Amino acid sequence: MRKKIVAGNWKMNQNKAEAIAFIEALATKEKPEGVQMMLAPSYVVLDACSQAASKDLIIAAQNINQHDSGAYTGEVSADMLKSIGVETVLIGHSERRSIYGEDHSILAEKVKQAALHNMQIVFCVGESLEEREAGKAEEIVKKQLADSLFFLSSTQMKNVVIAYEPVWAIGTGKTASPEQAQEMHAYIRKLVEEKYSPITAEQMSILYGGSVNTGNAKELFSQTDVDGGLVGGAALKADSFVELLNAF
Ligand code: PGA
Repeated sequence: MRKKIVAGNWKMNQNKAEAIAFIEALATKEKPEGVQMMLAPSYVVLDACSQAASKDLIIAAQNINQHDSGAYTGEVSADMLKSIGVETVLIGHSERRSIYGEDHSILAEKVKQAALHNMQIVFCVGESLEEREAGKAEEIVKKQLADSLFFLSSTQMKNVVIAYEPVWAIGTGKTASPEQAQEMHAYIRKLVEEKYSPITAEQMSILYGGSVNTGNAKELFSQTDVDGGLVGGAALKADSFVELLNAF
């Protein structure tokens, strides 16, 4: 059985007091069995969060630098993340692609770097509204995977989660319909199967992201190939995060 996951991407939200209050509140709440919890706080609170987190909560970084060390002002390396117990990283988020110019070759280097350090990777893909309307959604997602992820070995792929996040649905309140999500997730799984194997594809958790909330999560998560969510806005409060955990 592949893992069900609810991952909160906090983006540039939650200062230290807020982050710790969330994690402490989460610890007191009743949570369902069998759903992996993951939170991606900002760099400055990662250490505090990983110390405060219970074992069943994965603390992930939102970014990683592609180099080992050196003159890269403002950047954070895999080794630094691992030194504070952070073993998971988001790569390829559309905000990193569009605002910070992370193109496919930079993303491939980041994936390589994370894999080299045996980190779990949450690799994000997704088309823009223009691309969807032009009927190019599958082509774009296929290229994003081929360019920056599919050079990993099948052993390395065991440590990968794919998040499908249509750019037009992120932070807009416009969610993909459950059918649209299912269609793309099934397509992604097929691509993984073709490139790797049926087993790799079957075991790959594929998360949906883009305006997931407590009102739509149940329907989205009930789709055959949707194994959970990568959630921004609705993962900023412990109560709604717990509701999402219960949406399977
Ligand atoms: P959103 O963000 O849930 O606020 O749309 C999702 C994401 O960007 O990961």
